[in-house]
Parts: sequence; structure tokens; C-alpha cells
Amino acid sequence: MKAIAVHPGKPNSVHLEEIAEPTLDSIDDGMGVFVRVLKVGVDATDREINEAKYGNAPDGDEFLVLGHECFGVVEAVGNNVRRVKPGDYVTATVRRPGGSIYDRIGTYDMTSEEVYYERGINLRHGFLTKSFVDHEDYIVRVPGGLKHLHVLMEPMSCAAKAIQQAFEVQRRMKVWSPKRAFVMGAGQIGLLATLVLKLRGLEVYTMARSVAPTLNSEIVAGLEAKYVSLTETTIPKLAKKVGKADLIIDATGSSRVAFESMTVLGHNGVLVWTSITGGKHQVELPGDEINIDWVLGNKLLLGSVNANREHFESGIRDLALGDVMYPGVIGKILTDGVDGLDNYSEMMRLLVEEKTALKVYVNVAEE
Ligand code: BGC
Ligand code: ZN
Repeated sequence: MKAIAVHPGKPNSVHLEEIAEPTLDSIDDGMGVFVRVLKVGVDATDREINEAKYGNAPDGDEFLVLGHECFGVVEAVGNNVRRVKPGDYVTATVRRPGGSIYDRIGTYDMTSEEVYYERGINLRHGFLTKSFVDHEDYIVRVPGGLKHLHVLMEPMSCAAKAIQQAFEVQRRMKVWSPKRAFVMGAGQIGLLATLVLKLRGLEVYTMARSVAPTLNSEIVAGLEAKYVSLTETTIPKLAKKVGKADLIIDATGSSRVAFESMTVLGHNGVLVWTSITGGKHQVELPGDEINIDWVLGNKLLLGSVNANREHFESGIRDLALGDVMYPGVIGKILTDGVDGLDNYSEMMRLLVEEKTALKVYVNVAEE
């Protein structure tokens, strides 16, 4: 069967590869789930893999099948599968465990090993193909009522994890009820983080470069958050006007903004970095000022990557709640669908050139 793949390390190598069809018995103990792929989302990670900035092929292969944001339907299950049944809509987690204690208890997103395995990204093939088989531990059911949000499950899991982690570490404060959040970046992760924070009752300012009205600003407003254009104001000016933030989520893909955010975090606050920045940019900063401010304010910086089943499940719950709270708003993120695996060059072109494409995805098959 066909698969969209790259030769990691070779720039612009995206192509169609012919791979073997999967079989249910490739997973032991009757725990396999056979999934027919319906849609797969792509993002900046896929673009950077194709630019040879990121990603590795599985051992023994010279290609890596792309795609880590999948939405599909279960076609068959092994005898001992209990979580899903044929006909269920599903998505799949991205990481696969290594050998650390964290990997062994299902929190492979927190592996303590340097090497990590991610489907479609690092050392494991992805989902941009007709079907795949995986262990039921990595398959997450998506309610039929959310199928119009299809490929958002994986990006949502990353936003859900970042915010869950922030609340988790803030248990260091005996009481923490954050009031104001800044979300840096109004791409898919920024918008989904905006949603989660609104559902937690925070006042949310979501920042991006473009001047409103844009689709992004419309979605932010639809989520009852405030859109701030960094062309019209600066991050420090905003903080002066509305106050510093208790919680900041950076999802810009710009390490400069990630660091600059350190100057607008309030006392006892937490700044979460979520961007995968594959480049080599240098940043110059007022080091002494930040240092003293962070010490005197007991501030915390947290990196957050990937997500495990728990975050997929809580992300799906928030998508369900958000979709009834703000009807029609979340679906607007899904801007650019490409039909068929054969259209891989158009998929890459949209990722690279189309600045207004919020979410690019491939319609792999009809139901
Ligand atoms: C994916 C994550 C992954 C990260 C680092 C992101 O694009 O959504 O699941 O952990 O890249 O490879
Ligand atoms: Zn991603």
C-alpha cells in the first residue's frame, strides 16, 4: 500500500513509498487493533522533517512514513481487545515506550531516556498510509459526535498536557487559582490551549503577529478570549496595561518569544514552553533583570512535550465541552484538507507556503 514518506536527513525528499499491509497478528496476545485511516493532520514538525531538520527513520529502513495526527475507524480487533470495537472512531498516541520507569507505567511522554520513539517523527513509521495495526494501549476512542474535529485530537493532547502539567507543578503553592493567562501564538496549539484555559475559567490573552480581523482572531474571539496583535503592541506593553500573567503558554515556534515571555510572568507563576524549534537561532536577553525577578518571584519554567493516553482522553473531553460551549468555533481551525495520499506535494506546499493555513490535513479515505 502507498505511504507518504521522507528520507530523513535529505531535504525535500517527501515521496510515495510502497509498504506492506499490516496484519492483526503482528501484535501479540490478541491485543492488536486494525485501524483504517480516514484523515491525517500535518504540522510544522512534518515540515521540519522534510527540511531535514528533525526526525529519523526506524532502524533498518531508509525512509520514514510521515504523519502523527491520525483519525481512523477500527476495522478489526484481536481477541483480547476490550477498549474499542469495529466501527469505533479512534486516534492513536504518538510516542512508544522506551525502557525507563516512566515508559513502563504508561507515561512515555516523560521518558528519562535520551532516545524517544514517536510514530511519524522519530524511529517509528507514522500514519500517512491506508491502514495500521497497533496495541490497544495506544488507541484512543473518539466519540462519533466529535468526528467533525477529526485530526485535532493529537494537537489537543499536547495542549491538554501542557496545561495539566502547569497545574500539577503548581501544587507547590498550597493554594493556586490562576486568574490571567497569556497564550503566545495563535496556531493550532495556541488556539487549543486558549480553549482549555477558558474552560478552566481564566481570563485569556492570545497573542500573534497579524492584525485582526483574521481567522485566528475570529476563533480567539469566538472562544471569548482576547486577541492581541504584537504588530500593534508589545508583550511588555500588554503586561503593563492588564497586569502580568499567572500562567503563560508559549506555542509560537519562536525561541525569542519563548524567552521574552519570561519578563511578563507574575509572582509564583509558571511559564510553559511547547514549541519544537528545529533551528539555530540565538537570543539576547536582559539576564540580570530576569534572574533577580525570577528569584524574587519564585517563578517556574516548564518544558512540555508530547502526551500520553490520559492527556488524549482529557483533551477529547475538553473538545466535547468546548464544541457545545462555543458551537462551530473549534472546527474553524481545520482549514486546508488535501484529497488522497497522491497529493503529498500539495500537502507540503500548503505547510510551507500557505501562511493562512491553520491546519493542513490529508483526506486519506472516505468512510
Ligand atoms: C508532536 C508531538 C511530538 C513533538 C516532538 C509534535 O509535533 O505533536 O507529539 O512529541 O512534535 O517530536
Ligand atoms: Zn505535531
